[in-house]
Amino acid sequence: MNTPVLAPSLLSADFSSLEKAIKQIEDNNGSVVHIDVMDGQFVPEITYGQPVVRSIRKLTSLPFDVHLMVEHPENQIKTFAEAGADWITFHIEAAVHAHRIIQQIHELGKKAGVSIVPSTPISAIKEILECADIILVMTVNPGYGGQKLIPSCLKKVSELKKIREENNYNYLISVDGGVNNDTLKSVIDAGTDVIVSGSSFFNGSLKWS
Ligand code: DX5
Ligand code: ZN
Repeated sequence: MNTPVLAPSLLSADFSSLEKAIKQIEDNNGSVVHIDVMDGQFVPEITYGQPVVRSIRKLTSLPFDVHLMVEHPENQIKTFAEAGADWITFHIEAAVHAHRIIQQIHELGKKAGVSIVPSTPISAIKEILECADIILVMTVNPGYGGQKLIPSCLKKVSELKKIREENNYNYLISVDGGVNNDTLKSVIDAGTDVIVSGSSFFNGSLKWS
């Protein structure tokens, strides 16, 4: 049985005090800071970008997992790497040349993540599983925190685990969306390595031990 790590999502933090939010993450079992970047195109709302990442970089040595929910992610890779991202995850649905984007991320010395929305099957990323470092399985439709986890998406976690074993691949499997005390066990049992939690982490209800 694997021991997953917790990646709290800043999306549900109080943006008027990001320093306090980072401290909450450090003090409550967070191993990675998940940073949701939205562009108002790939998803309806707009959150924050490189200047915010640059500014909070000095507050912690925890790795930054930048989840790009943006169109044309290839245009944002270099500047997020320079701003302090450690993992850069883009959506396969927004990428024509996914393999090239992974290369671009690797050339900058960062970990490359690929994310799939609930309606995207594993077959859509089959060709890049070999070179990706993280597969981020969305268990809600991206765009907002506080939604309900779609249980059928967890089948993709088990499938990814099996494919990894069969092929000796190295990616981590991450789950993002709707993780709370009611769904946490099912997410762990599916074989998730990195668990993202926004609303339940920041409202203090998530019990992580
Ligand atoms: C949703 C984001 C998530 C979000 C998760 O589009 O990618 O990272 O913050 O929030 P919860 O845990 O509240 O579903
Ligand atoms: Zn996210």
